[in-house]
Amino acid sequence: GLFRSCFHSSAVTQIKQLGVVGAGQMGIGIALVGAKVAQLPVKIFDSNPEQIKKGLKFVDELIGKDVSKDRITEEEGNSTKKRITTVTDISELSDVDFVIEAVSENVDLKRKIFENLDKVLNKKSILATNTSSISITKIAAATKRPEKVIGMHFMNPVPVMKLVEIIPGLTTSDETLNITKKLATSMGKTCTQSQDVPGFIANRLLMPYINEAIIVLEQGIATREDIDTTMKLGTNTPMGPLTLADFIGLDTCLAIMKVLHNELGEKYRPAILLQKYVDAGLLGKKKGEGFYKY
Ligand code: CAA
Repeated sequence: GLFRSCFHSSAVTQIKQLGVVGAGQMGIGIALVGAKVAQLPVKIFDSNPEQIKKGLKFVDELIGKDVSKDRITEEEGNSTKKRITTVTDISELSDVDFVIEAVSENVDLKRKIFENLDKVLNKKSILATNTSSISITKIAAATKRPEKVIGMHFMNPVPVMKLVEIIPGLTTSDETLNITKKLATSMGKTCTQSQDVPGFIANRLLMPYINEAIIVLEQGIATREDIDTTMKLGTNTPMGPLTLADFIGLDTCLAIMKVLHNELGEKYRPAILLQKYVDAGLLGKKKGEGFYKY
């Protein structure tokens, strides 16, 4: 059922090796799921060896937990680890057929990486970006293969969250779209498809919801606990909007709201209180404090 819902075409080439650009939280999560669930050889590129070291340690920990919880055998754990290799020079990605870029949300950086990937990779290879807010069409235009560029937006933490939003750009081919859906499915994810518009589906809905919760707090309509409890118990979500904002990071929430505001208009203006928390360095769980203390 999963497979059918995501995938409609027979025009598919086999992906033999996956590349991941960026060994941060998202990149490592994507690499792990590629190696463990899709069982593909995965090559991670990051120019920073320290970041790679940190990433591989995290992979070891997550696989170790899977083994200790009897979800996979020790042998499967070891073969998953063996499928993951790392490189510190982008040209070493030349033999991958599908690459997923997961570096920080900076349009110039992403365009530069795509320009380089385009030069290095086989002409048939597909280039996907894990951006949550940058135009796929704009990133694609940095390459000479815009029909082979696509958005693949994973949710954080990647190994836990079941969704991938797939975003074809203006010139993405149906073949690229179908191969990408097939890959996401083989990684155990359910995919949804969105047009290339600011925020796609998830952040278009989620960020104004979080922002409105912050405005409700700012206006003194309710306490932070009552806002969260109302939504948690009143709408059956695992956590309320202010807690979720702390988990995502208030800097990330603000950056995405700014994109929505700039591109879609006044309705999406970021809450003043959100800006204040970011200015104060209270960025949420990762900093030990946001709307709550951790
Ligand atoms: N990587 C891999 N696995 C992780 C992880 C990570 N970074 N963080 C937690 N997990 C795993 C844990 O290892 C644990 O696995 P086991 O069952 O094997 O032990 C499992 O998740 C549950 O973790 P815990 O019980 O320790 O912790 P928790 O109660 O905090 O639950 C969570 C973890 C389910 C991820 C929870 O924190 C959560 O729901 N967070 C919000 C997730 C979310 O909504 N993400 C989407 C944000 S929006 C987005 O990503 C879009 C965007 O562009 C901003």
